[in-house]
Amino acid sequence: MTGQKALIVGGTSGIGLALAGLLAQDGFHVETVGLPALPTSASSGLPHGVRAVHHLDMTRQPEALTALDGIIRRMGGVDLFVISLGIMHFNEELDWEWERRTIEVNVAGFAAAANVGMRFFLERGRGHLVGISSIAALFGHRAAPAYSASKAFITNYLACLRQNAGYLGLPITVTEIRPGFVDTPLLPPGGWRPWVVPVDEAARQIRRAIRDKRERAYITRRWRLGAWAVRLLPRFLLNRLR
Ligand SMILES: NC(=O)c1ccc[n+]([C@@H]2O[C@H](COP(=O)([O-])OP(=O)(O)OC[C@H]3O[C@@H](n4cnc5c(N)ncnc54)[C@H](OP(=O)(O)O)[C@@H]3O)[C@@H](O)[C@H]2O)c1
Repeated sequence: MTGQKALIVGGTSGIGLALAGLLAQDGFHVETVGLPALPTSASSGLPHGVRAVHHLDMTRQPEALTALDGIIRRMGGVDLFVISLGIMHFNEELDWEWERRTIEVNVAGFAAAANVGMRFFLERGRGHLVGISSIAALFGHRAAPAYSASKAFITNYLACLRQNAGYLGLPITVTEIRPGFVDTPLLPPGGWRPWVVPVDEAARQIRRAIRDKRERAYITRRWRLGAWAVRLLPRFLLNRLR
């Protein structure tokens, strides 16, 4: 993998940040995109080897698309483009502002990033796009309707991008990552976290899926069965899930 370039949107925290560190260790030139106004060079808060952090709000459209494309061009192109941005808020009270913001970031923000990355790969004729979805794409969570639906969107969006690359006969890999619960700032403290994994372990598993050019990977693998089992639960049991 040495000598390749990777850009991680949502690489300033959690899963994206941990993955950035691993890819840098592997010899990738890694740059990240996130919300905080950090300087555009490696700072003390960054894992060793990450070359630059770009401050960009992907919901500020269409400016964010132009800016993201500019970052890719300034890097001299990328081989790997990872989208790990996202927000989640337990919203049992259905506060519309949270629902709207979640859709804005996880749907419009995700799709905008994927659009820029995929158009670059189509132009170049090759590349690897990775998007972080969730097991919530399969069955959803009663307290996070917009979040769960946004993940179903991501799953289908990535599937369409993969099909399009196949239709065009281009060697573009599209990998969908479906984490269960990963210990990051996204999870509310002290909540229900079955089979939670440390963020470094999640990043290692994602690195493996990238190396293997997998179409899909569950983090951890037991969620492949776990998610489908939850999906098959009768409604009266599903209603009891926290
Ligand atoms: N943690 C889990 O249990 C879990 C489970 C399933 C799926 N996932 C998914 O994994 C992905 C990464 O989540 P995480 O757990 O690593 O959470 P995280 O630590 O909160 O990281 C989220 C990343 O998204 C960035 N971001 C948020 N809004 C943005 C915007 N408008 N424009 C640009 N960047 C934005 C954040 O930037 P800042 O650094 O500025 O906040 C941060 O880098 C998300 O898609 C999440 O839904 C996580």
